[in-house]
Amino acid sequence: MVLNMILWVILAAFAICIFFRFPYLYQDVKYIVRNLRIRRRVSHYIQNNYTIVDCFLERVKKQPNKPFLLFKDETFTYQDADRLSNQAARALLQNGLVKQGDTVTFFVTNEPMFVWLWLAVFKIGCSAALLNTNIRSKSLLHCFKCSGAQVLLFFFFFKSPDLEGAVEEVLPELLERQVTVFSLGSKQTSSGIHGFIDKMRNMSSEPLAEDLRSHLNMHSLACYVYTSGTTGFPKAAVISHTKLWRFVMILRSCGLKSDDVLYVSLPLYHSAGLAGVTGAIDLGITVALKRKFSSSQFWDDCRKYNVTAIQYIGEIMRFLCNTPKKPNDRSHKVRIAIGNGIRANVWRDFLNRFGNIQILELYGATEGNIILMNYSGKIGAVGRDNFLHKWSFPFALIKYDVEQGKPLRDSTGLCIQVPKGEPGLLVAEISVRAPFLGYARDLQQTEKKKLHDVLKKGDVFFNTGDLMLIDKDGFVYFHDRIGDTFRWKGENVSTNEVADVITQVDYITEATVYGVEVPGNEGRIGMAAIALKDGHTFDSEGVFKHLESFLPAYARPRFIRIQSSLDVTGTFKLMKAGLVKEGFNPSAIPDPLYFLDDREKKFVPLTMDIVHAVLSGKIKI
Ligand SMILES: *[C@@H]1O[C@H](CO)[C@@H](O)[C@H](O)[C@H]1NC(C)=O
Ligand SMILES: *[C@@H]1O[C@H](CO)[C@@H](O)[C@H](O)[C@H]1NC(C)=O
Ligand SMILES: *[C@@H]1O[C@H](CO)[C@@H](O)[C@H](O)[C@H]1NC(C)=O
Ligand SMILES: *[C@@H]1O[C@H](CO)[C@@H](O)[C@H](O)[C@H]1NC(C)=O
Repeated sequence: MVLNMILWVILAAFAICIFFRFPYLYQDVKYIVRNLRIRRRVSHYIQNNYTIVDCFLERVKKQPNKPFLLFKDETFTYQDADRLSNQAARALLQNGLVKQGDTVTFFVTNEPMFVWLWLAVFKIGCSAALLNTNIRSKSLLHCFKCSGAQVLLFFFFFKSPDLEGAVEEVLPELLERQVTVFSLGSKQTSSGIHGFIDKMRNMSSEPLAEDLRSHLNMHSLACYVYTSGTTGFPKAAVISHTKLWRFVMILRSCGLKSDDVLYVSLPLYHSAGLAGVTGAIDLGITVALKRKFSSSQFWDDCRKYNVTAIQYIGEIMRFLCNTPKKPNDRSHKVRIAIGNGIRANVWRDFLNRFGNIQILELYGATEGNIILMNYSGKIGAVGRDNFLHKWSFPFALIKYDVEQGKPLRDSTGLCIQVPKGEPGLLVAEISVRAPFLGYARDLQQTEKKKLHDVLKKGDVFFNTGDLMLIDKDGFVYFHDRIGDTFRWKGENVSTNEVADVITQVDYITEATVYGVEVPGNEGRIGMAAIALKDGHTFDSEGVFKHLESFLPAYARPRFIRIQSSLDVTGTFKLMKAGLVKEGFNPSAIPDPLYFLDDREKKFVPLTMDIVHAVLSGKIKI
């Protein structure tokens, strides 16, 4: 009896010791177990050439009447989706328009047809190039061409009047290239554009022959997803069927269950939207699809469709927090939010306001070969450096020389790993398990993302372009994006950190921070484009005081540009390149501009006189 008691006490003490020594052990183990299971599943799929379409067809057999897609007031079951995509597939095959192995280009906004077409293309063993619907003219043609227009037969699908204009602009060139252009609108507009819906309606919805996709293997192209292209033209990232499975499994590894309802308001042409819909197929769950993210309709939609899981990216969470408060803010069933790029202060506001929602912050680029996940509940961390992760997807943080714009190397030519607690460039080893498939028809850009001889001679790593930091407990934090740091007065200024400080001012809803060149000065001086909440004016003394108390002098933006809203890309990444180019010339910029006057201790409206004084050195900056 006594012996028994002693034994228990020892065991309990041991458990407590372990808990304090390894406080995150339980979460690490849970995450590792879940991911080992997922890895087994994916290897099994890969060995058996089992694609997402096979998975979809299995779902249709198992649960034909379960809702698959909710859109506006319509409900489409798994069976409906199967039939509609069979019709679309037949319409594509008709008259030999599309043949096995072709790539079909999508230029489609979020709507059910996007999903039917996408399934159709896969069912007939073809691949899809998913164009960003915000791109226009030259960029549009560029994206179209880099999906292989020279060799293959292509199709354009579009619906909204806005996209119609965009397509008509490039139509002559498309027709010259013998491209077949389809419209998803009900009526045909200009000549050279065919209607698709009527064609499709006439087709049989019976199952298609399986051998249409018998040539596919796991290395076959599934789709091209384009990078946002905050600078320059977007690049087409190659997504093979193997790689697609890694996207598909994101929802599963976040712990979504078969009775969840996922709200997808992110564009389907991006990896997040794609991971949402394909992940839903894998789990057999329902997706509530939104044409376009709307902060005012977001929660009403969540209530209407009984949404339990949402996806976010970049600024979405901030937009939601900036909407006027409502008494029913907490009446919803959302339990989990999955995404990337939430800032710590927004996260707190979000939870305070909308209730206890688990936030799962992911880190990963479309074309990259590494995904990190915040599964541990540590505020601000994007992931954890655990041994399983290191073992299956080796990565390293290496020293980076901002001025030279490349990693530092030691005398033997290898890269140097940073010690814990210091920011370094995140690089991930390229291997069979973690492939980097590069960009379509752009060998130069593909090579640029590769680093050779990193930890040992002959190895190859993917360069994420992100500076990260691992703390002593093994938490990984996002530090900065290379290029998002500028130098001023010999100091490195992190644009993210400055933007965080600026948006702490409660009526400043968004801020983009960047460096602009001033002739006669080294480096770049800080400038911020900001947007204000409706009905607020810029308080030039208050903002100065705030910046003065939180930022060192060199990091305070000297110029402020007030915009009604900030330009964003399809994924809400703030567009910097244009702002940098426009600089701070009041005669060329219609927006109100302010200058930080450190003698007056406030911001003053920027005049041409001030600009001349700055350029001539009369005002010291
Ligand atoms: C639909 O099918 C019918 C008969 O099968 C045919 O007469 C008609 O032309 C078809 N319509 C279209 C738009 O293909
Ligand atoms: C949402 O849940 C309620 C109550 O459980 C149910 O009556 C309603 O039909 C559901 N709505 C949808 C779109 O599933
Ligand atoms: C990490 O996850 C925890 C728990 O869900 C959450 O509280 C925290 O905000 C997350 N961190 C980030 C940066 O999202
Ligand atoms: C700024 O970055 C460069 C390159 O990484 C580094 O050598 C330098 O020490 C940094 N300067 C400061 C003040 O941190």
